[in-house]
Amino acid sequence: MMTVQWNDLIVRDARALTASEIRDLLKVTDRPEITSFAGGVPDASLFPLDAFKTIYADLTTDEAAGRRSLQYSISEGLPALRQWIVDDLAASGAKRGIENILISSGAQQGLDMLARMFLEPGREIIVEKPSYLGAMQAFSMRRPTYVGVNMDDEGPVLSELDAAFAGGARIAYLAPDFQNPTGRSYSLERRLAVLELARKYGAVIFEDAAYSKLAYEGDVLPSLLALDEVNGDPDAGTVIQLGTFSKTLVPALRIGWVCAPRSVIERLVLMMQASDLHVSTINQEVAYRAARDLFPGHLETLRDAYRHKRDTMLAAMDEFMPDCVSYTRPEGGMFIWLTLPENIDSRQLLELALQDSKVAFVPGQAFFCDHSGCNTARLSFATEKPERIRDGIERLALLIKRVHNQ
Ligand SMILES: Cc1ncc(COP(=O)(O)O)c(C=O)c1O
Repeated sequence: MMTVQWNDLIVRDARALTASEIRDLLKVTDRPEITSFAGGVPDASLFPLDAFKTIYADLTTDEAAGRRSLQYSISEGLPALRQWIVDDLAASGAKRGIENILISSGAQQGLDMLARMFLEPGREIIVEKPSYLGAMQAFSMRRPTYVGVNMDDEGPVLSELDAAFAGGARIAYLAPDFQNPTGRSYSLERRLAVLELARKYGAVIFEDAAYSKLAYEGDVLPSLLALDEVNGDPDAGTVIQLGTFSKTLVPALRIGWVCAPRSVIERLVLMMQASDLHVSTINQEVAYRAARDLFPGHLETLRDAYRHKRDTMLAAMDEFMPDCVSYTRPEGGMFIWLTLPENIDSRQLLELALQDSKVAFVPGQAFFCDHSGCNTARLSFATEKPERIRDGIERLALLIKRVHNQ
């Protein structure tokens, strides 16, 4: 009898997948004694449970709606939900039609589908340094060549972006609002300049708008999609935007969307038909009703709660962190990005933090396509209670001081 040689049979694309440091970490950080700034997940106490009870009750008492929600549906996604998204985009200045929207199973499926449609081994894709790890996991399945572009406080460094396009890259994955992992946003000038560069080279931008609605202060700036206006033609632009209800409603529904020129959506729909036919009908119906009934009030509740947590974390960092540490001051989203002294490796610090200080965070290296950033870390203020945030930061700061002075 022969034993199966799994590694010989599994194709290279699938072998290219590596375990996410974040997912592995989450296993440990479940323990109650650990104050976790590691997970990028929303605060479950903010989930609108009562509204969901009513929505599900309505769906089971209204027989026609209930039966419709339990049936197969079209691959593009429910028309009512797509129309809601189109109206919401229009309110923020992006004029698109329902035929520009595909409902996906979270933004993550959108990233995977775009990777399958636009990437192939060796093809270049521009990513921010650092960038969202989950996107790079989706892209890596296609074994592209990453071209990392450094970021400053206003967005990607334009000379580097220009050089990347000039070198032949035609796809860029960018997150202009409250980026995961740094919390940074692009200035309006930088958004316009990035678009101008993309147009100059005929490049496509994948805009990740996962955190765009979690804005706590300052002006809400137009998305790249909204700025990508070509003679009022919704199919003429260069931006493909990914959206999601995971951060604004609940992640478990797995409802996201891709907004793209019609020709792209048509191909994505074929891809969806071939892979999973469509996203869960009932989940789409629930997401639609929840968004219709709860927004914008629920968004205000979220913003108030997360703003308070962010302020608590920043105040604790201002009070306790030594001068050798610097950090971002995000105006939205869920994350603060920490830069430690060069001599501190954040992976080693994490081991001590878990053992001695009972605090977790995500070492920053995983977010860099070139595995740099050893002295950086991502802290999420979203999940823990404010009291625990202050204590956890104090313990982490003490540890950093100790390690730095060794
Ligand atoms: C920047 C970013 N994009 C996309 C996603 C995927 O979200 P989902 O698939 O839940 O919509 C996440 C999740 O954490 C994220 O942080």
